[in-house]
Amino acid sequence: MHPALIVFIVIIGIPIVWLFLVLTVVKLIRRIYPFPIPPFATNLIDHPIRRKYWQNPEEIATNMGAKPGDIIVEIGPGKGSYTFAVANQILPDGKVYAIDIQIQVLNRLEKRLHKEGINNVIPKLDDVYNLSFEDESVDVIFAITCLPEIPEPVKALKEFKRIIKPNGIISLCELFIDPDYPLRRTEKKWAKEAGFELSEEFGNWFSYQLNFKKKKKN
Ligand SMILES: C[S@@+](CC[C@H](N)C(=O)[O-])C[C@H]1O[C@@H](n2cnc3c(N)ncnc32)[C@H](O)[C@@H]1O
Repeated sequence: MHPALIVFIVIIGIPIVWLFLVLTVVKLIRRIYPFPIPPFATNLIDHPIRRKYWQNPEEIATNMGAKPGDIIVEIGPGKGSYTFAVANQILPDGKVYAIDIQIQVLNRLEKRLHKEGINNVIPKLDDVYNLSFEDESVDVIFAITCLPEIPEPVKALKEFKRIIKPNGIISLCELFIDPDYPLRRTEKKWAKEAGFELSEEFGNWFSYQLNFKKKKKN
């Protein structure tokens, strides 16, 4: 075998095979015992390569069309890079409610907000199946690599439908290397079941963003 091929297999091939094995094992365990990503791992996935090349926070914020003054709900903020990009886009008077199921994630986000002097983000522990927001009170709801981590995504989407304004946007982003990665058609099917229709889509099979609006009543 050519030495360059051996080096290629060792440096690129073996880590890729390992990554797929680990992702498959995590996915199988999650199917049986659903659990959210451990809080420390939200730092690991907030990688500069991801932010620069695969899921750029500013680009995602622009694609969802958030504008100054909007009321935004983010589900599953993790380390908060996407939260901050959206919060910046809706200044001076818009607000992002960052909803998570894990208090440790929210406490860390709170510290980061304080450190970076951001004051239009409100971290909030809430239940995605029964959100503490009024009917039709939110302009945009977004979730980055989070919806498939929720055990009943259609039930959560139905709750989003209750709180989103009639012309509001639900924006969902997924990344192939996430163990919970759903195909685009799966996520579109969930959204359709919950009463949404696709309004825009971005990206490719590796990283995509789907925007939905409430289905108009005939
Ligand atoms: C894979 S991380 C993604 C974090 C961040 N959006 C990103 O892309 O870097 C998923 C996030 O969703 C949160 N999460 C998981 N299940 C949830 C639920 N049922 N309700 C609210 N947040 C949830 C996790 O705690 C975590 O912050």
